[in-house]
Amino acid sequence: MVTASAPGKIILFGEHAVVYGQPALAVPVSQLRATATITSPPYPPVLNAKEPRAGQGEIWIEAHNLNRTYRLDEAPTHDLLALAIRLTFGHYQLPITNYQLRITLSSNIPLASGVGSGAAICTAIVRALSLHLNSQISNSQISTIVFETEKLLHGTPSGIDNTVIAYEQPVYFIKGRPPEPFTVKQPFHLLIADTGLPSPTKITVGEVRAAWQNEPERYDALFLAVGKIANVARAHIENGEPEALGPLMNRNHILLRKMGVSCAELDALIDAALGAGALGAKLSGGGRGGNMIALVTTETQNRVQATLEQAGAKRVISTTITHNQ
Ligand code: MEV
Repeated sequence: MVTASAPGKIILFGEHAVVYGQPALAVPVSQLRATATITSPPYPPVLNAKEPRAGQGEIWIEAHNLNRTYRLDEAPTHDLLALAIRLTFGHYQLPITNYQLRITLSSNIPLASGVGSGAAICTAIVRALSLHLNSQISNSQISTIVFETEKLLHGTPSGIDNTVIAYEQPVYFIKGRPPEPFTVKQPFHLLIADTGLPSPTKITVGEVRAAWQNEPERYDALFLAVGKIANVARAHIENGEPEALGPLMNRNHILLRKMGVSCAELDALIDAALGAGALGAKLSGGGRGGNMIALVTTETQNRVQATLEQAGAKRVISTTITHNQ
């Protein structure tokens, strides 16, 4: 039996603009995790790949969060988990029909909430299969495989989610370039609050694309402004000035509102957090639901958390952003 896991993530600065080539900053969230466990039965694998068993499909997927157990060869065409499995076998050029496995998946990462549930479960699958196959795989190779699953999930992803989750460290990301890990000189505290409204990233990314096609100059200016904020934020994080991030988060959120990806529930949580003393707050991820983040200090953390819960947050997670998450 082998087990592997992968974290959730939050985008600190730059969501949506990153799809259009602007820089963004993302960090893993280790309290949120997806886990894949692989067990193989005591019988040996089918050895002759050219003659798979009649009614093949010896790989079973047991997805606890979806309450579903199904055979790989019966998976729907657009099944994310099946794609991650097939891509991993493809990566190793191994015939999938030779293997008799049960892949059990569980996760405490809310689905469609901007915190990387899809990329995390696929990363856990790739890691666990690689362990099972006794094969080395680099973070970069995992990220490349998971990027393919992200395309299925998100349509036109930037690649930031698969990158920060596969590398499991803070990253400064520009689409199409190798990720740059950045230093967190002084740790800082964030609260991550869930509106409880699922909002598939594919939808908001698609709507922003349509809006950009309709008003390219306006949207390009918004993306550029977000990219500048991400660059300034990185410098503050690397210089050990986390309190300076608060106003930048507020400005980033205003730009996201202008892009049309906030919603009343997110804005209510953001107002509540700021009212209770957070240094800054913004939506994180695709928006229109999902999660927001608030920058707090050890003094304000409890008060802001209680206020977020009173304001309707379905779950509030406290996390400390450090260099080694
Ligand atoms: C999703 O976590 C971040 C978005 O910018 C989409 C992407 O970058 O692929 C909204």
